[in-house]
Amino acid sequence: MASNKSLLMLPGDGIGPEVCQEVRKVLDWMDKRRAVSFDVKEGLVGGAAYDAHKTAITDETMQDAMDADAVLFGAVGGPQYDNLGWDVRPEAGLLRLRKEMDLFANLRPAVTFDALLDASTLKQEVIQGLDIMIIRELTAGVYFGEPRGMQTLPDGTERCIDTQSYTKAEIERVTEVAFDLARKRGSKVHSVEKANVMKTGVFWRQTVSELHKSGKYDDIELHHMYADNCGMQLVRNPKQFDVIVTDNLFGDMLSDVAAMLTGSLGMLPSASLGAVDEFGRRKALYEPVHGSAPDIAGQGMANPLAMLLSFAMTLRYSFDLQEDADLLEQAAQAVLSRGIRTGDIMAAGAEKVSTAQMGDAVCEELDKRAA
Ligand code: NAD
Ligand code: IPM
Ligand code: MN
Repeated sequence: MASNKSLLMLPGDGIGPEVCQEVRKVLDWMDKRRAVSFDVKEGLVGGAAYDAHKTAITDETMQDAMDADAVLFGAVGGPQYDNLGWDVRPEAGLLRLRKEMDLFANLRPAVTFDALLDASTLKQEVIQGLDIMIIRELTAGVYFGEPRGMQTLPDGTERCIDTQSYTKAEIERVTEVAFDLARKRGSKVHSVEKANVMKTGVFWRQTVSELHKSGKYDDIELHHMYADNCGMQLVRNPKQFDVIVTDNLFGDMLSDVAAMLTGSLGMLPSASLGAVDEFGRRKALYEPVHGSAPDIAGQGMANPLAMLLSFAMTLRYSFDLQEDADLLEQAAQAVLSRGIRTGDIMAAGAEKVSTAQMGDAVCEELDKRAA
């Protein structure tokens, strides 16, 4: 029977296909045990698309992404593709998806699981109970600003430039997402930029402040913080944060920092969301924060939890399947509590498992939880 829930799976390169395979198991489980089924289409992206079509994503796959209710993305990139032309490099496929789907709000939650407190490099009391949401602007800033590239000055000097650029509307719409989400959590937002050195930082701060004073967000506690200080504060005392809203590049870096608070980059999921349309729908792409991990690819060593938790976010944000999302998150937590670990989160006395065994263990826990 055709389902009204469509998913496009883009496994990509390196460990991308390995961790996506584990989502397949959960999809099968949901189909059998929860009678929730999805129409899943698969496509090529990144180096895999380049190998087949000499482009990081074809127009057809792009269209499939536009048509799907949600896109599940593994990871792209690898050393064999590092010297390709700028427009066809694997990362260009991901950037095209984000830009053309207008996925301006990238939600990167960093939540610590008690069972993993020993996997972090930080002291237990610093990270226990941590629950931060980083909201990274994803379709503007220095990632897309023009002009960019090589220039030769009249005196023959070669230089290269990237441009940081933000319109007021681009700042406002991501800040609204942050304020709205904060309201459902701790009602506290840190807006992060470098207003001390960047004009876009001054504009960002001013725009966020104006929106905060508009009368719609009186219940939100707003703080402004410089990005360098934020990096330091995330390591010093991360529990001071609830929601962080920041630009594309600072958000990229700060979310990798936040990942290590949870113990591993292999634990951090993300959701990239577009605007809500007149029918209440929004385009969305879900992906782990980590990359293709060429150093461990093909060895069954990758931690699939970031990908599985990204799928939990899919259930939550694209399909309003809150109970199923809870089940999956609880199953992941239970597996960790049983001391089952992939190499990246290994601890003394724990049982070291492969990517596939971790996926199987999550399905076992799902079985125990579903009546
Ligand atoms: P990376 O995230 O791929 O790896 C960084 C380190 O973390 C590596 O040591 C890796 O083994 C480890 N790691 C990452 N995910 C893991 C997991 N699930 N389980 C266990 N260990 C994990 O970053 P990198 O090495 O800087 O980049 C490698 C390639 O990935 C590059 O081509 C880069 O452009 C690309 N990349 C892609 C994405 C994406 O597709 N969204 C994100 C980041 C980097
Ligand atoms: C991420 C990645 C991407 C980024 C790359 C692969 C384009 O690092 O999703 O965090 O820089 O946004
Ligand atoms: Mn990144």
